[in-house]
Amino acid sequence: MSGTSEPLRAGVVGAGLIAGCHVRAYTKAAGVDVVAVADTHRSKAEQLAASVGATAGTDLDAVLALGTDVISVCTPPSSHAELTVRALEAGQHVLCEKPVALSLRDAERIQRAAEASDRVVMIGHVSRYEPDHRAAKDLVEAGQIGDVAMMTHSVTTSLPGWSEGGWLARPEESGGPLLDLAVHSFDYLAWVTGSPAVRIHAVAADSPAGPATYGVATVRYANGAMSQVEASWAHPAGRGFKLMAEITGSAGRISWDYDSINGGAIYLADGGVAWLDPLGERGYASEIAAFTEAVRVGGPSPVPVSDGVAATRTALAALHSVRTGEPVDLTTWEGP
Ligand SMILES: NC(=O)c1ccc[n+]([C@@H]2O[C@H](COP(=O)([O-])OP(=O)(O)OC[C@H]3O[C@@H](n4cnc5c(N)ncnc54)[C@H](O)[C@@H]3O)[C@@H](O)[C@H]2O)c1
Repeated sequence: MSGTSEPLRAGVVGAGLIAGCHVRAYTKAAGVDVVAVADTHRSKAEQLAASVGATAGTDLDAVLALGTDVISVCTPPSSHAELTVRALEAGQHVLCEKPVALSLRDAERIQRAAEASDRVVMIGHVSRYEPDHRAAKDLVEAGQIGDVAMMTHSVTTSLPGWSEGGWLARPEESGGPLLDLAVHSFDYLAWVTGSPAVRIHAVAADSPAGPATYGVATVRYANGAMSQVEASWAHPAGRGFKLMAEITGSAGRISWDYDSINGGAIYLADGGVAWLDPLGERGYASEIAAFTEAVRVGGPSPVPVSDGVAATRTALAALHSVRTGEPVDLTTWEGP
């Protein structure tokens, strides 16, 4: 992979909630111009593109036509494989949102394309860039709590209401919270303990928000560490967004939580939705800065596709465990 010192021309495919985070983060990154935003709903692309003086279109081809260097894939996961592989074939560096895909077959398709190219392909596991999550990882790496043994990561909220056409509420399009939400936890915890997940057992409950909208998983890692992951879209809307995390090692523990600091949305008269987030979008700014810096210096990917595939595989195995009632041996599981 070779680097570049020219300003990077960025294009964003999808103009929904996460695309706004990417666009704002690109504007904070040094030496990057957002030149194009595309969405099948043209008006959404126009609105987001106008916020940064970019050109709006309706598909990836319209973005590529503007001579981009890097592409953010910010569409629902069912289209990640198609868009990422096509962007790679067009010579783009790609930041693809999580989860990598809805099936292992599609996830591995992205991985093969990334491995065959000389481009940077990063998966949007933003938890690694949230300041508290990053600080905890740094403390673990510095040996401050000894050998990691037990971890807890819990993210509970109500059913997200913003998704285009309501795709998040349909399990076949989002995987529900054990995939869409817990994939962040599975990625983060494997990264912290520095060891792959080898066994998972999950249970889930239905709620008015939909089937399996409250899930709890236990994970064993190859190094013997364990974690428990809780993911919910079943909590009452008024409760907000709550995150609790704890990492315990042989010589100490680290814990932190957010209770409703990220819990608001502003519903605008024109139909748009914006996060009310008093802490700002620091994770996305750091994530995009890491991506564009990797492109500039010629790699490696800060969050390689293989890590995104591993987290997605763990999440898909959690869903399989929910269906069968049995634990899944991740060392042999072939997945959907
Ligand atoms: N990292 C995070 O914290 C985080 C948070 C939210 C969402 N996400 C992920 O980001 C992705 C998008 O989620 P979202 O919440 O922004 O969804 P969204 O529904 O708000 O936006 C998705 C947009 O993509 C558009 N779209 C769909 N297919 C398209 C295509 N082929 N070409 C162009 N546009 C297309 C839709 O019209 C919609 O406007 C998902 O993978 C989701 O899991 C990540």
